[in-house]
Amino acid sequence: MKRYALAVLPGDGIGPEVTAEAVRVLRATADLFGYRIDTTEYPLGAAGVAQSGDSLPPRTRDAVTQADAVLLGAVGDPALAAAEGRRRPEAGLLALRKLLGAYANLRPVVVHPALRHASPLRPERLEGVDLLIVRELTGGLYYGEPRGRDAAGAVNTLRYTVPEIERVARVAFRTARERKGAVTSVDKANVLEVSLLWRETVSRVALEYPDVRLDHLYVDFAAMRLVAEPARFDLLLTENLFGDILSDEAAVLAGSLGLLPSASIGDGPGLFEPVHGSAPDIAGRGVANPLGAIASAAMLLRYGLNLPEAAAVVDRAVAAALTAGARTADLAGPGERTVDTREMGDLVVRLVLNRDRAGAGQGVA
Ligand code: IPM
Ligand code: MN
Repeated sequence: MKRYALAVLPGDGIGPEVTAEAVRVLRATADLFGYRIDTTEYPLGAAGVAQSGDSLPPRTRDAVTQADAVLLGAVGDPALAAAEGRRRPEAGLLALRKLLGAYANLRPVVVHPALRHASPLRPERLEGVDLLIVRELTGGLYYGEPRGRDAAGAVNTLRYTVPEIERVARVAFRTARERKGAVTSVDKANVLEVSLLWRETVSRVALEYPDVRLDHLYVDFAAMRLVAEPARFDLLLTENLFGDILSDEAAVLAGSLGLLPSASIGDGPGLFEPVHGSAPDIAGRGVANPLGAIASAAMLLRYGLNLPEAAAVVDRAVAAALTAGARTADLAGPGERTVDTREMGDLVVRLVLNRDRAGAGQGVA
């Protein structure tokens, strides 16, 4: 029997609640397809600080590099918002991404037909929305040196090298081939030197993929088009900070940030985490939406373990749960009945195990 070893980093806030459901769904796929998934939990973020004073403890560092893939919940804790260095929960996450060489972050956004009313945008604008943000994840302002503060002010550095741009661009072009064969690269080349280099480099990489169309947009214009005409986009390629901002904006299309998954891939084991944060306001109450974490588990199966059939079963089960009307609090309209985190997880597990019924859902992958 094939065995996979996963490092699970539940993290902070709602992280443990949502990852627990994602792990149950992964186990259900193992039962269904006859492989074995071994999971071991390690601390990250505020949980790491509490255990060892480090948001990425040495034990976690060792484990993630050995794992077949890494499943992560969320990090962040208001009590540590002013902490410095590696006592900041977010610093642990950034160090983890760097450690794994996870330079390409894939953030798909689809609008489930049953959730078109859940977005504040007009439902007809949301028809046919199915896009993927490819966000560079280990460079740019998040990592640039020098950084810091002195009496006169504060500084962060925006710096990208040509190889850093090339490698994430190649991921985007390869992925575009499996989609609609189009890449929209987003930058601020009318102002930033780094964006000029980005544009030049992406254009040069595009020559390796003559079958893929490339266009370029300025980030301010892209931000507007993303809500004005979202169905026009297929794959957006952009740098770290722009990608962070645009992916939260795109969450408005899906109806809730709680639905969105991500995969971070590169040199080492893949890292899979929902796009949402630790949501301290609702943590510990069992009401968080686990579908972003569950859909991240599907991406783990697809990109982390190369099990595309199992991934498709999970994607269909998530879609079928929504079609069946299951709504966590973030998705519920006024007066709509809600399910809690565990109930949503239970339903997806049942739909996974009953593969045919899940497949008979709306066919929304
Ligand atoms: C995300 C988050 C992180 C980021 C934070 C928590 C550091 O917002 O994954 O989008 O900015 O990358
Ligand atoms: Mn973000």
